[in-house]
Amino acid sequence: MAAASADTAADLLLRRGADGSFSLYSRSFGEGFHSAAGALREANEKFVRPAALERFAPGRELVVAEVAVGTGTNTAALIAACRAARLGFDWWGLEQDPRPLALALADGGFRAQWPAGVIPRLEALGAGGRLLLGDARQRLPDLLGPLEGSCDLVLLDAFSPSRCPQLWSREFLERLVRLLRNDGRLLTYCSAAALRRCLLDLGMAVQAIRPDPAEAGQWSAGTAAGPAPLAPHPALRPLEPFEHEHLASRAGVPYRDPSGTATAAEILERRRREQGLGRSGRHR
Ligand SMILES: C[S@@+](CC[C@H](N)C(=O)[O-])C[C@H]1O[C@@H](n2cnc3c(N)ncnc32)[C@H](O)[C@@H]1O
Repeated sequence: MAAASADTAADLLLRRGADGSFSLYSRSFGEGFHSAAGALREANEKFVRPAALERFAPGRELVVAEVAVGTGTNTAALIAACRAARLGFDWWGLEQDPRPLALALADGGFRAQWPAGVIPRLEALGAGGRLLLGDARQRLPDLLGPLEGSCDLVLLDAFSPSRCPQLWSREFLERLVRLLRNDGRLLTYCSAAALRRCLLDLGMAVQAIRPDPAEAGQWSAGTAAGPAPLAPHPALRPLEPFEHEHLASRAGVPYRDPSGTATAAEILERRRREQGLGRSGRHR
């Protein structure tokens, strides 16, 4: 993995969350990589805990596909959890920019965040041909070949739908869920109605990820979905009636990208039209 410095990545600014963990802010997307609570806390709350690794017997090899690998925080958190649970880890990642991972690996604070053995594994994954670089929309078919129907976990951690609608479109999600085993689950920090409605339309069982009790006032920390009903788990809860109502509203209109090549502006504009909103976003 090539070294990256703050100079070579001028649009990526170093951030540390409230938990002190390493994170970045992207000037080009106008958004942080993680919530203010911190990358490490978010990884555990929104990805590791709802993955419910206790479902798997020690020795089992977990098959994981990760969209928007970024700094590798979710990957490292999952490596650490799998090591603790004595699970194997067969991982593939999609990411268009190698710099966030290189910046993280060059940061002493990031390296110190993890138990022994995690950083060498993360470095090996980053360099070992399992990190597919490029637009995830174009690289996803390369994963579907070897992995269709075989992933235990699919992690989706793209920038928010309004900043990066390319990775939340119905067409992208339709392909992404094809990676899942019948008892596999897709996990994301996103609770948007457009995402949840799409997943339900694709035949997925959908649950909300419960927020960390310390995150006062939050109603949902994300979404978990799978082809088969998700077993009850303290990190998950069924959608509330008000959430179902929200899905049926204009907020539930999906992002569309049939060609897989549309720009963010094109996808957002098309959705505004399909929501019956004008260019200004005002109701017609
Ligand atoms: C919110 S950050 C990911 C955070 C990451 N999971 C972490 O723990 O650092 C979103 C990532 O999506 C990547 N990205 C944006 N558009 C993409 C695209 N079309 N294809 C692949 N990756 C993309 C960005 O480069 C960025 O690293």
